[in-house]
Amino acid sequence: MSSPEEKNTARHQFNQPFLSLSPEDATDKPVNTEIVGQIPEWLEGSLYRNGPGIFQVGETRLKHLFDGFSVLHKFHIHKGKATYMSRVLDSETWQRSVKAKRLIATQFGTYETPDPCKTTFAKLSTIFKPQHKAEWTDNVSVNIVEHGDRLYAMTETPTIVRVDPAELKAAGRENVAKTIAVHMSTAHPHFDEQGNMYNLGTAFNPPNNYNIIRIPPPSKEDKDAPVTTQAELVTSLKSRWMFSMGYNHSFGMSRDHFVILEQPITMSSFGFLTNNWRSAAAYDNFVKRPSEELIFRLVSRQNNAETAIKYRAEPTFTFHFVNCYEDDEHKALVVDFCGYSDLNIIDNLYLDNLDKEGIAHSVPTFRRYVLPLSIRGAAVGKNLVTLPHSGATATLRPDGTVFLEADYITNGTVQMELPKINYDRNTKKHRYVYGTTLFSKEPKLMKLDLETKQVLEWQEQGYQAGEPVFVPRPGGSGGEDDGIILSPVLSTKGNEGCFLLVLDAKTFKEIARAKTPDSVKMSLSFHGSYVQSKQ
Ligand SMILES: [Fe+2]
Repeated sequence: MSSPEEKNTARHQFNQPFLSLSPEDATDKPVNTEIVGQIPEWLEGSLYRNGPGIFQVGETRLKHLFDGFSVLHKFHIHKGKATYMSRVLDSETWQRSVKAKRLIATQFGTYETPDPCKTTFAKLSTIFKPQHKAEWTDNVSVNIVEHGDRLYAMTETPTIVRVDPAELKAAGRENVAKTIAVHMSTAHPHFDEQGNMYNLGTAFNPPNNYNIIRIPPPSKEDKDAPVTTQAELVTSLKSRWMFSMGYNHSFGMSRDHFVILEQPITMSSFGFLTNNWRSAAAYDNFVKRPSEELIFRLVSRQNNAETAIKYRAEPTFTFHFVNCYEDDEHKALVVDFCGYSDLNIIDNLYLDNLDKEGIAHSVPTFRRYVLPLSIRGAAVGKNLVTLPHSGATATLRPDGTVFLEADYITNGTVQMELPKINYDRNTKKHRYVYGTTLFSKEPKLMKLDLETKQVLEWQEQGYQAGEPVFVPRPGGSGGEDDGIILSPVLSTKGNEGCFLLVLDAKTFKEIARAKTPDSVKMSLSFHGSYVQSKQ
């Protein structure tokens, strides 16, 4: 029987070398890195990363950036040294695809390759057999998060995969859809101070609900007990469209509210519910609505009910919220995210398009919206934003809705994706945002100071820095940015020379880099988590 490690996948060369790796390029045993500079002594832990690393399986070439098979990465830091390892996640989709030498489960932009052994009659007959189900992927390639003392790899399906932190192998699969009626859920959960995980799920069954889900921390007594069986439905909001739902890659959580965006990139409920009858990838069911406004929907965390005020804005799409918080003095909710005015961004991430033009026409910029939490007595047409020095506006319309205009902070000059903050500030007022550029001609990392509007940058010719993860200095009293930034850096010229970058978060100056040996080929990772070593 074939093993996933066997070399039965052909390599497809994309322009970006980190999108052209093969399974054998993984570094499945930790290797030492060369430290240039000095890693702080207090940094004792592991940075786990997840992203799409393999784009060819047997005869199937995956089409979209979001399709790639998950490769997990781990930088382990101890006493000023660092090791690196990576592994193709042994999801069922991966293992069965390798064995079949073709894609056997529908991905975001590539659908299951038909089994050449099936007869036409057999294919037709499956349409009428209720037991036939198209296989949605368990290729959880977007994020890896810490929940209690466990690591879970996540994507936008309801399946989450527990990961063995030592070996980076799958240590159990769970499916939140077995407990809560959802067809999708995001890979960007939030956590409260009690360790509860919150996520946004999408249910395509009429009446098309956005479901906020709470998953309590894992059992300390039963180390094998699944967490998703304890999932609870916090609230459900009905979609504004009869047969469609807004697509969300993330959602917002403040002290008092959940924030769900109804964006003008939507998904056809009918399309998803009939997907198992047709040859269609997930994105084939998406519908762009460039003439429709973005709607902000708020849910009170006190009573889990939707608030009465309706907020609207120009058509805009975001993958990533930055943070949301209440400004009590000015009775407002501040919502920060990195947004696109061009709704073609997802199309531009098809690999053929990336090869041709990158995302030159889809530039993400930081945006701050300020939502007044009371409009009692407000005059139509008057700006209701009272935050000092804010460029955001909120105007009551005659129909009773509030129209929002964003403050771009830097006049929209800062391209920023994969934003991160000091997560201790999540749901609270934050000052600093860290981000990166992806597939830009001038890749760089940046730190945005929302008070001074100053931007600090790190860049090095020929290198692409990944998501900047903030790690607070233990016991640090130097403020929100008292800590370091960790970012995996890939070469855009070849596969060699990748490293882990360590920046002082205050100055944004490099204090160390952990250079992997030239034999290491590192693939792209989207998101990850730093896990402190246990004392
Ligand atoms: Fe993401």
